[in-house]
Parts: sequence; structure tokens; C-alpha cells
Amino acid sequence: MKIKKAVIPAAGFGTRMLPATKTVPKEMLPLLDKPVIQYIIEEAVAAGIEDILIITNRAKSAMDDYFDYHPELEERLYRDGKLKEREAIRHAADMANIFYVRQKETRGLGHAIWRAKDFIGQDPFAVLLGDDIMRAEVPVTKQLIDAAEKYNASCVGTQKVADDAVGRYSSLQISPLEKTVYKVTDMNEKPTPEEKFSNFAILGRYVLTPGIFDILENTPPGKGGEIQLTDGLRTLCQREPVVAKEFAGRRYDTGNLCGFLEATLELALDHPETKDFMQSYLRQNRLEG
Ligand code: G1P
Repeated sequence: MKIKKAVIPAAGFGTRMLPATKTVPKEMLPLLDKPVIQYIIEEAVAAGIEDILIITNRAKSAMDDYFDYHPELEERLYRDGKLKEREAIRHAADMANIFYVRQKETRGLGHAIWRAKDFIGQDPFAVLLGDDIMRAEVPVTKQLIDAAEKYNASCVGTQKVADDAVGRYSSLQISPLEKTVYKVTDMNEKPTPEEKFSNFAILGRYVLTPGIFDILENTPPGKGGEIQLTDGLRTLCQREPVVAKEFAGRRYDTGNLCGFLEATLELALDHPETKDFMQSYLRQNRLEG
């Protein structure tokens, strides 16, 4: 099973980041010098993905502009000798073959993924949720692909979350297959403490077989009145093998203010242009505070 295609759902309103997201797509908010979506695409590419479908909506055209060439700006940067900047904007446009389809109505994550049916065809594919930025030695998508290939199964990315966080995610019913891979037998979306299966939550990464599309087509609205990918996966794991990979790496939820800030600070502590500044800023303020 060779996985070369990925789907990035990016059709949400970004209500947790208003007012900024009133006119700027949340995927285009900058984490240092790159928009959030670029980190997601870089992870996919590092995992061997070549073709990427972004599920957008009518308010997201800044995203397709970003992954296009900008000849006038490139020419200007070239003339001014700003070759590094020119290279950076070219790189963003050339990273992968990027395609777009609109989710014409906001009907949930399951419905957004279903929009990828024609693009995917018969191949297994990766899904990367746009809010979840991962920092890992081995790209998290690659860790999932390896587990999916080994078990010839769909795979969801998981980590254990705190009791008070379980209700924000999909909670998994699992049994161990090996150290960090589990067989998935059930799951539920945003459970109450009484409903939860475990503290293993799905965190933003999936490898799915095309079997999911027929299921999603017939999945009724669930939590929040939306067609939930989790409800589709619940059926999928009764029909086909589904495993969960407890991935190594750190995940940031950039869809909310604190997660966004956390990602920004940690990236700034690593970025060659900001790390010295950040370190001395933090040191000084600690000393003075
Ligand atoms: C979505 C999914 C949920 C998953 C979560 C984190 O929720 O519906 O199952 O656990 O992403 O990846 P959202 O964050 O969009 O509410």
C-alpha cells in the first residue's frame, strides 16, 4: 500500500480565533514567518505525500493564492537581490501538487472528508487536520503510514490526554498489538466522562482506506448536528481493520489562543532568526520578574 495522497480539511470558520479569522482564514494565520497550513503541508511532503487536496470554502481564497506563483513579486525580489525571500515564496508554491474542492455547506468533518471521494479514487490516503501542528523527529503522518502499511489497515493518530481534555476529542476503545500500536474496536466523539472509552484521543492525523466514503455517505448527523468522521470510523472498524498509532512527537492545537501561543513560542525558541532573541528575552524577564 503506497500512500501518495492526502486530504486537508480547511473549511471551518475558525470561531475560536475571532476576530482575526473574520477575514483571514485560520489556516493562513502566521506561526512566525509561515502560515499554519504550510507546516501541515511540509509534514505531509516529508511523509512522502505528493498530491494534496485541500477542502476549502468560499472565504478561503487567500489559501490558493498563497500556493500559486506571484511573478510580479518574484521579479521585484530578484531585482532587489532578495534571493532568499524569492526562494521562500517559490518553495511554498512548489512543495506539492495542491488541489482544492469546496465544501459548499458547513456540515461537519465527515462531510468535508466525503468531498474528497473523487480525488482519492481507490487508494488509501492520509488526512491531516489543519489546526493540529506536530513537531516530531519522524513526521507523524509517516509514523501512521508505517503502521497502516504494516497492518494493512486504516490508522488513527493517538496520544493519551488528561481526564478533563477527553471531552474535546474522539475517545478510543483499543487493545494492544505492539508497544505503540493498538487495535481499534470502537470510539466516540467528544464523550462525557461517563461515555468515554479511554484517555486515548484521536489527535488530528489519520490514514484511511476509500471504504470510508460509502460509510460517510450514509452517516447521519451526530454530535453538534454535524456529520462526524468519528461516527464513520466507528462503522469502518466494524468492517475493516483499524489501528491506532501512539505517535512520538508534540502536538499543538493552533485553533485556540493558548495552543497558538504555545506553538509560536516553541517555534521561536528554535528558529535561527529568533532563538537568540527569545532566549535572552525570556532570561531577562525571568530575572526582572
Ligand atoms: C476534531 C475531530 C475529533 C478529533 C479532534 C482532534 O475535533 O472531530 O474527533 O479528536 O479533531 O484532532 P475538532 O477539534 O474539530 O472539534
